[in-house]
Amino acid sequence: MDTPLPTEMFARLDETPDLRFYALPRLVTHIDDATIAALSEFYRERLPAGGEVLDLMSSWVSHLPADVSYARVSGLGMNAQELQSNPRLDDWCVHDLNREPRLPYPDASFDAVINAVSIQYLVRPVEVFRSIRDVLRPGGLSIVAMSHRCFPTKAIRAFHLLGRDQRLEWVGHYHQLAGGFDPPERLDRSPPNADPLWVVIARRAV
Ligand SMILES: C[S@@+](CC[C@H](N)C(=O)[O-])C[C@H]1O[C@@H](n2cnc3c(N)ncnc32)[C@H](O)[C@@H]1O
Repeated sequence: MDTPLPTEMFARLDETPDLRFYALPRLVTHIDDATIAALSEFYRERLPAGGEVLDLMSSWVSHLPADVSYARVSGLGMNAQELQSNPRLDDWCVHDLNREPRLPYPDASFDAVINAVSIQYLVRPVEVFRSIRDVLRPGGLSIVAMSHRCFPTKAIRAFHLLGRDQRLEWVGHYHQLAGGFDPPERLDRSPPNADPLWVVIARRAV
């Protein structure tokens, strides 16, 4: 593990290969409709319309605002059928970030990298965030959206133990340890009476 974060916090109940776990498509949503709407609204506020966006750990939905166009939306995930069903994606690939944390895109290809309700599954996050930094253009955004639901056997120990503020800190550390990002913002954009929405957003340093 290439990180000073405690190794034991990355243990998972199920350490079998991730591709096996994600072999069957799950064409479901993982957060309430109100939380999805809040996330789409957040993307509307922060993502540059007309920009190039990478949806990391993607599935059949990207939660991007329906009425905003982007020059390109790329998706990287674990299940071809899910990614093929995602109407927002211009291109996609199946890629296990826990086996190969380097992203398969050239440097400075994207204006934003988004990651929705999936960060808890990464066991080599600092390496992944170094690669996120590299594929972002200077000034580009990393947006990590979290909630409280998960596939419990595949989530790292940290996410079973940490509450809201600690999770926001934890994911902020991923950016800081990777280096090359401005100090991250940590936000609670939870709608009332719905799944929470906690967001870490950091800009690639110019
Ligand atoms: C809870 S789903 C969220 C999907 C989508 N982002 C959303 O908001 O609905 C978790 C996603 O993380 C992706 N994922 C899990 N482990 C991964 C890994 N090792 N490498 C790349 N993607 C992974 C899976 O493809 C899965 O679609």
